[in-house]
Amino acid sequence: MRRFLLAAGLLLAAPATAGAEEALSGGAFTVFESGRAAFTTMAPALPEALVRDFARGRTVFNRPWLAAPAQDERFIGLGPLFNRLSCVACHPRNGGGFAPETAAEPMRTMLVRLSVPGEGEHGGVRPHSAYGDQLNEDGIPGVPGEGRAVIRWREHDEVLPGGEAVRLRRPLISFTGLAYGPLGKDALISPRIAPPVFGLGLLAAVPEADILAIAAENGGRPNRVWDAGNGRTVLGRFGWKANQPSVLQQLAGAMLGDLGVTSPLFTGQNCTEAQPECRAAFVAPQPELTAGQLLALETYHLGLGVPARRGVDDPSVRRGEALFVAAGCASCHRPTLTTGSHPSLEDLGGQVIHPYTDLLLHDMGADLADGRPDFLATGSEWRTPPLWGLGLRRLVDPRAGLLHDGRARSPLEAVLWHGGAAREAAAAVRRLPSDDRRALLRFLDSL
Ligand code: HEC
Ligand code: HEC
Repeated sequence: MRRFLLAAGLLLAAPATAGAEEALSGGAFTVFESGRAAFTTMAPALPEALVRDFARGRTVFNRPWLAAPAQDERFIGLGPLFNRLSCVACHPRNGGGFAPETAAEPMRTMLVRLSVPGEGEHGGVRPHSAYGDQLNEDGIPGVPGEGRAVIRWREHDEVLPGGEAVRLRRPLISFTGLAYGPLGKDALISPRIAPPVFGLGLLAAVPEADILAIAAENGGRPNRVWDAGNGRTVLGRFGWKANQPSVLQQLAGAMLGDLGVTSPLFTGQNCTEAQPECRAAFVAPQPELTAGQLLALETYHLGLGVPARRGVDDPSVRRGEALFVAAGCASCHRPTLTTGSHPSLEDLGGQVIHPYTDLLLHDMGADLADGRPDFLATGSEWRTPPLWGLGLRRLVDPRAGLLHDGRARSPLEAVLWHGGAAREAAAAVRRLPSDDRRALLRFLDSL
């Protein structure tokens, strides 16, 4: 693998081939790492002055949190209710999570969102009265975990023209050991795997006006969500339904929702009225995640590089790229965006990037619907996920899944589930002769 040096954001040894620019998926924040560290590598474009903060943020991401009392007071504050001890537990090597293969396996890198019909505060979801907006499987000593979600798969084979059979599976979800009463018939349930976490600073820096212009031209809808730090409704960008407005709020939300760790942005513990042990549990000095730790965690996410594409000039990759456009994939998975400015890191601005997303919501049809609206996103709408790094996901973690619930084990499976506004694009892929389909998959693998 060739490596190029980036210094002060300048490309010193840019290759002279036609594909050079296209390979720089993250502009100056591209890294030339195509092994297991592809998603954990710091972009050399991160200013020197932030490197220490980046390393500190990496520790906050990777370290297991502790319930009080404990020795290392920097990491006390787990729970009372939580899903995992650390961020990295669900985002292995910063890559995507996966769904359990069998009902006996726990949800290692996945969580289940819960709510009830109707609108909650600021137009968001209405949390379930006993369980809140997410099932927390575990509790600190003395606090019963909420219960476990179990996935069973219903499988069927789809036979493509040419005879290739693809086994598809759809999850059926149930619960065991619910500690705070039944969920009730009304409960809205949405199982989700963890998405990869690199490149988010660049996506945060794409001008809102550009995203709205894409929506006007191509379809797709912006989500409008609550920005808790600034007390107003803004464009949503992160999460499977684009229900988070910024990297900072996404991180603080994960700290509270997934680890039970409070922060300057979300100060209340994650207990409901129905959870007396949780409400009475010992509370560490507040906020459990300090402002400094939260900013370091943000710097870490902003500074992670986006892996460069591989094999851009390979003729079959080129053919696959043309087929990707011809099938209509590029209308949602937008190959190129240009960043404007980022409020906390200037260097993220003015970058030509290749994320393969429009950051907009699309109706993906009944088969992918979770029936759980979130701000403006309906029960069948999802945000187009970025495809950069797609070909490296299974190298980073061989179990990595695709689609919001991890049902797809390959890009082809993911495409075959596309319905709704993407139905025609999926139909075009079904109709392709098998060599063309292989070329399309080669292209996806080069991302
Ligand atoms: C229990 C598993 C789990 C844990 C633990 C977890 N995450 Fe996540 N993470 C997810 C899931 C699932 C999503 C998608 C959530 C959604 O769309 O509702 C997500 C989304 C994200 C995103 C947004 C990615 C994108 O492209 O939109 C970021 C960033 C993130 N998590 C960071 C963190 C951090 C930081 C921590 C530790 C505080 C953490 N996560 C802990 C499962 C987890
Ligand atoms: C109408 C918009 C739209 C079109 C057209 C479209 N997609 Fe998607 N794509 C999405 C959305 C939204 C999702 C997420 C759906 C979900 O998670 O349930 C997605 C998910 C994916 C995923 C899984 C990514 C991940 O991180 O889990 C792949 C791979 C993918 N699309 C490839 C394609 C290809 C190839 C085409 C063309 C044949 C295509 N898409 C056409 C909107 C679209």
